[in-house]
Amino acid sequence: MSKRKIAVIRGDGIGVEVVGEALKVLEAAGAKHGIEWTFDEFPWSSQYYREHGQMMPDDGVDQLRDYDAIFLGAVGQPDIQDHITLNGLLLPIRRTFDQFVCERPSILFPGVTSPLSGKKPYDVDMLVIRENTEGEYSGMGGFMYEGQPDEVAVQTAAFTRRGCERIIRYAFEAASKRNKQKHVTSITKSNALGYSMVLWDRTFEEVSGDYPDISTNSLLIDAACMDFIRKPESFDVVVASNLFGDILTDIGAVITGSMGLASSANFDPTRENPSMFEPTHGSAPDIAGQGLANPMAQILTGAMMVRHLGDEAAADAIEASVKSVLEVGELLTPDLGGSASTSGVGDAIAGNLA
Ligand code: NAD
Ligand code: IPM
Ligand code: MN
Repeated sequence: MSKRKIAVIRGDGIGVEVVGEALKVLEAAGAKHGIEWTFDEFPWSSQYYREHGQMMPDDGVDQLRDYDAIFLGAVGQPDIQDHITLNGLLLPIRRTFDQFVCERPSILFPGVTSPLSGKKPYDVDMLVIRENTEGEYSGMGGFMYEGQPDEVAVQTAAFTRRGCERIIRYAFEAASKRNKQKHVTSITKSNALGYSMVLWDRTFEEVSGDYPDISTNSLLIDAACMDFIRKPESFDVVVASNLFGDILTDIGAVITGSMGLASSANFDPTRENPSMFEPTHGSAPDIAGQGLANPMAQILTGAMMVRHLGDEAAADAIEASVKSVLEVGELLTPDLGGSASTSGVGDAIAGNLA
């Protein structure tokens, strides 16, 4: 029996609903595969902000430090500006815990129809490795003459050699472990961003020298957006800066069926700090509170957490159960063309676990 202690932050909107379903599935997997879970819930959310004037207590990040992992739904509500909610919770956790790797798989599963015509299962099967702590998200900047007609806003993108090197190296390591083409695509924009992306390109070139068996190419972000749609089968591992990776992974989600299927993990690969598991999608205020959200992204994110914690058989079982519900096709939420509810899908996946 392994004991796992998890900090759970449901957050806002559909985050609350899909985390509930994922916990159900994790409990079922734990019972079958010998994992004893402790789920400690933290009510940090937009509602918490309305009550306390901050998204989490001053020592919030410290309260999470001793957990095996953090399991988060999504944060964001239309009545509070996003920079307040996200800079008050999600982004500080990623940065303080040095979760510099964001892994986002994009896989077209059997039973799912891609909006791209003629795509068969697994025609899309790629892993985007997104830099997660610096770059365009460094959070450095400010306003001058705030609110006045001559107002100036400065937002600095900081790229460090160390930051570029460690994420690019991680991508090569990931490619060497995958069962695919053994190919890494670097996403750049060094035609316009002649400092940050030039450092990125140079680092990519240097690191690739250590991996002679892995083929590479480099694509400008605009062309990469086009190729994600035009020929997604050409990608294996993709490595991108924080903002470029963010944008590309929404495309990766939608070409593989839905935002509601796109799992994601924020890793500190050194394991000095807890890693955080949250799907690619947000709080989806347009469908929140109606039982319409697809919980599969959160559940597959749970499987990534289980795998990270070393419980491989349980992770395999969760993934297999999601795939079988997709393939049978009888219990799907509206984003996948069905009429099942969030909890109906959660129950089916939990009930189906081997
Ligand atoms: P979103 O991902 O919440 O929604 C985009 C579209 O995808 C919507 O039409 C939504 O209904 C649909 N969708 C998303 N998840 C779905 C699911 N599980 N099942 C079915 N359909 C789903 O993006 P948005 O609307 O741009 O952002 C809403 C809020 O979420 C904003 O406040 C944003 O800042 C925040 N956000 C938070 C996170 C996070 O906390 N990790 C991630 C992204 C966006
Ligand atoms: C994501 C989200 C976040 C990001 C937002 C909510 C800050 O879009 O995880 O993809 O840009 O990292
Ligand atoms: Mn995003």
